[in-house]
Amino acid sequence: MASPSPEISPADLQLDRVPAHVACVMDGNGRWAQGRNLPRTEGHAAGEEALLDTVNGALDIGIRYLTMYAFSTENWRRPADEVRYLMGFNESLLMRRRDELNEKGVRIRFSGRRDWRVPRRVLKRMDESIALTEKNRTMTLTMAFNYGGRAEIVDAVRSLVAEGTRAEKIDEKAIASRLYHPDHPDPDLVVRTSGEYRISNFLLWQLAYSELVFTDVLWPDFRRQHLFEAVAEFQRRERRYGGVRG
Ligand code: IPE
Ligand code: IPE
Ligand code: MG
Repeated sequence: MASPSPEISPADLQLDRVPAHVACVMDGNGRWAQGRNLPRTEGHAAGEEALLDTVNGALDIGIRYLTMYAFSTENWRRPADEVRYLMGFNESLLMRRRDELNEKGVRIRFSGRRDWRVPRRVLKRMDESIALTEKNRTMTLTMAFNYGGRAEIVDAVRSLVAEGTRAEKIDEKAIASRLYHPDHPDPDLVVRTSGEYRISNFLLWQLAYSELVFTDVLWPDFRRQHLFEAVAEFQRRERRYGGVRG
């Protein structure tokens, strides 16, 4: 995705080879705002449009699972004002958007630790959104919130140990079965915006064989068109899973 490509529409994609699960690291909100002499929080606010357009684009092409990295276990290191803003923003975004997502058949889920640092009213909105949309099956939208890939693996192993699982029974299948959403397929494609080439503790277990696409677009400028470009790039890749060319 280095050079600007002509507009890609769903018709240009192989719709029988759309990734089942796309995961996005929504990055670059702060730089987007700073570039406009705005406070960083304005960048987060502008990211709402990007999120909704991406969800609608994913629905357009039949992506079944979309996982969005909204707040990491490391993001608590940010200034208290920004953290407070992000908590309130995620809560109000759910309030503003959950009905339209529900009408579109989107099942809303969350991945992450429900620890004491997440305000109780945010947890309440999350639970309400899960309950409202739990019967939907058109697409599953998972918000990774207070999420860390290492924390998820630790939590999985803890749950096995807490049940007294014998060491020789702890294998890949057992750990995978204790992840936050064991029923979700591993992401086929991960998109990270803002020109950063790293994973930042996102879905460490699940990304073992995901295709990675990086774009310089800052998250608030990201639109479905960029998602389609990433899917087109995915469709040019050859996945081998350690084997040889089929
Ligand atoms: C991503 O944008 C949003 C969150 C991590 C919550 P950033 O806030 O990280 O934006 P940059 O990377 O500082 O530009
Ligand atoms: C990753 O972005 C987390 C989210 C997008 C929520 P960060 O901006 O926190 O990642 P680093 O610090 O650049 O690695
Ligand atoms: Mg960032």
